[in-house]
Amino acid sequence: MRRIAVLSSGGDAPGMNTVIRAVVRRGIFKGIDVFGVHNGYDGLIAGNFVRMDLGSVGDIIHRGGTILRSARSERFKSEEGQEQSLANMKNLGIDGLIVIGGDGTFKGAQKLAFNGFPTIGIPGTIDNDISGTDYTIGFDTAVNTVVKAIDKIRDTASSHDRIYVIEVMGRGAGDIALWAGMCGGAESIIIPEANFNIDDVIKSIQQGHSRGKKHSIVVVAEGVCKGTDVGQMIQEKIGYDTRVTVLGHLQRGGSPTAYDRMLGSQMGARAVDLLENGERGVMVGWKNGHLVHTAFVDAAKDKHTIDLSVYQLASSLSI
Ligand code: ADP
Ligand code: F6P
Repeated sequence: MRRIAVLSSGGDAPGMNTVIRAVVRRGIFKGIDVFGVHNGYDGLIAGNFVRMDLGSVGDIIHRGGTILRSARSERFKSEEGQEQSLANMKNLGIDGLIVIGGDGTFKGAQKLAFNGFPTIGIPGTIDNDISGTDYTIGFDTAVNTVVKAIDKIRDTASSHDRIYVIEVMGRGAGDIALWAGMCGGAESIIIPEANFNIDDVIKSIQQGHSRGKKHSIVVVAEGVCKGTDVGQMIQEKIGYDTRVTVLGHLQRGGSPTAYDRMLGSQMGARAVDLLENGERGVMVGWKNGHLVHTAFVDAAKDKHTIDLSVYQLASSLSI
């Protein structure tokens, strides 16, 4: 392994820069040339490679976003796009690739691996929706961002008699909603992994009101429905004054937490070591407090799950 490349793809996530730094520095430490690919798979097709040196990743460990930029590339889904990418890497003498992204990114990486190209994946997405790892890079930062937002909304909520509905990201997964709802003390959490019944939400709001609660906070994962729909249902059914906040892309920004930096540093370095040791077509993960790696094919077979006992606990603590 003499030359490797690294790219970030899909939705950016805080901590991606930490991973890029770790890949570049670990690679150079081991005497490997490292290239950064700009704009995800689009850049791989366009041949957008830049040689990285030690200084190129200085002062980025604490910065959100990704210095390599990211993209959602339709063209890479075609065989033509994948073949062009492979040809570009061959021309440049690249003999290993590390991709940072979510499940879509890993599907793309799997195609390269099927074609015999040594490819390693690192889970980077705020959604935490990838099997093969307990945590994805960016999730912890996003949860902390949402908890801070809930705390602020709670300040104003406690000054008014209202219901506050907060819609959070997560695509098809409820992890951000569950963690932030639990840590923000929400009265109700609505996630795709548990049946959603508006009457249950209303019952919990009314129970709280009957014992003197003046306001309630409801966290809804975008994978279930729009926050505005939940707000409208509550207003129509019980007539309480309701306000809706959609947190949106601010959940993707910000300086990565120490936890995301720790995961990012370890996963980035491990990905280089795996390539060097001849591993191909695997993703790095974090399970039960340890680094692990899983074949893309095996990770793709399993569905990401959520711990429903935490959901039940959150409900029982918000009575
Ligand atoms: P994420 O990686 O965060 O899940 P996307 O789902 O947008 O984000 O996937 C990132 C990119 O991965 C896509 O834009 C596309 O280029 C590539 N990709 C996704 N699915 C496939 C697939 N089935 N085959 C090849 N490439 C894919
Ligand atoms: O996958 C990360 C994510 O932020 C999801 O939570 C969200 O559904 C999606 O990306 C938003 O994508 P975009 O930035 O393309 O609007």
